[in-house]
Amino acid sequence: MEQRAVLVTGGCGFIGSHFVRYLLRERSWRVVNLDKLTYAADLARLSDVTSDPRYQFVRGDVTDAELVGELFRRERPWAVINFAAESHVDRSILDPAPFLETNVRGVYTLLEAARRHQVERFLQVSTDEVYGDVEGLPPRVEEDPLQPSSPYAASKASADLLCLAYRRTYGLPTLIARSSNNYGPYQHPEKLIPLAIRNLLKGDAVPVYGDGRQVRDWLFVEDNCRALLEVLERGRVGGVYNVATGVRTSNLELLRRICMVLAEELAADPNSFLSRMEFVRDRPGHDRAYAVSVERIRNELGWRPSVDLQEGLRRTVRWFIGNRAWLERTADDSYRAYYEAVYVQQWGMP
Ligand code: NAD
Ligand code: DAU
Repeated sequence: MEQRAVLVTGGCGFIGSHFVRYLLRERSWRVVNLDKLTYAADLARLSDVTSDPRYQFVRGDVTDAELVGELFRRERPWAVINFAAESHVDRSILDPAPFLETNVRGVYTLLEAARRHQVERFLQVSTDEVYGDVEGLPPRVEEDPLQPSSPYAASKASADLLCLAYRRTYGLPTLIARSSNNYGPYQHPEKLIPLAIRNLLKGDAVPVYGDGRQVRDWLFVEDNCRALLEVLERGRVGGVYNVATGVRTSNLELLRRICMVLAEELAADPNSFLSRMEFVRDRPGHDRAYAVSVERIRNELGWRPSVDLQEGLRRTVRWFIGNRAWLERTADDSYRAYYEAVYVQQWGMP
């Protein structure tokens, strides 16, 4: 009997690639990965699974209704897990257009196809950023209002609303997972943790936005993948689930820990890293804090994170030390142009 297929979009990105690998290991399903291969994608992230006969890569855009429709007709996926997105806040400040295209119109295109082909589950991979800045507020629960701050967060909140509307209006079995900041191997060096590790390894300064006291909840990517599969299979249809560790860390404390782990791994003096923090102009509209309640996913699905920040940072730092070639290849000319546009021209770094 032919295996059932799932459609994963954005599977060549950071989280999507970890999820594809996890799915192929944990389930017998076929996995169809639809990815446009933007600057954020890398086929090398999945080089170890390309020979698996259950894995299929399709290059294409989630906003392309014809291609998406054809894929649904051909593969008849029972479930969709949508990772495809423009994912970086600073880029959304430079140019919101692709964020609206992929994160809103792309989700609409997928929802339309899913409704026509009657999928059993549509899991939208969302973010805790949709709740906006929660400094001084209790952790957000899933029913709290959406108050996104950046164009990125606004596009993700719009997608969440579309999913909820399709559930209510058309009865489409949507689910939404809102996770906190992921980190781990293969993350693109535009994001804080790999950016800091790369700059420290190169002997460069690490740009700290504003006062560095902003707070985030850092989630090891493999823990998120486990949560996403739980939500996909056992989540209540129509349900929204926050995914996070419940442990909040300021950016300065996070960077201090990265310096300590790097120093330990390289048998170096921690001060040679700690002295490289450089305070730069703040990100416009920067959210001071994200914090979400994880009661629901704990109580309903029994999910708990298994990798704490110290262990996750150690695994991440080790991976980047062992994969400096990947890091440098990813930080290509277009990355350098982006870095220049953000850090030198906008944020005022020397
Ligand atoms: P990423 O930027 O690493 O990868 C995004 C992937 O989507 C890339 O492979 C890219 O080529 C693909 N893509 C972009 N536009 C596309 C389009 N129009 N059609 C098809 N493919 C397209 O992103 P990530 O960090 O892995 O995040 C994945 C998802 O998780 C996103 O939806 C993001 O909003 C969400 N999320 C990320 C985090 C985080 O900390 N990284 C936290 C919470 C939620
Ligand atoms: O909270 C979930 C979100 O986490 C996801 O939805 C996004 O896709 C993902 O990019 C991430 O958003 P953040 O803006 O929180 O992540 P980033 O790594 O860009 O920044 C983390 C914190 O570090 C934030 O407070 C900004 C700060 N920062 C970031 C960079 C890149 C710096 O101080 N310096 C930097 O150079």
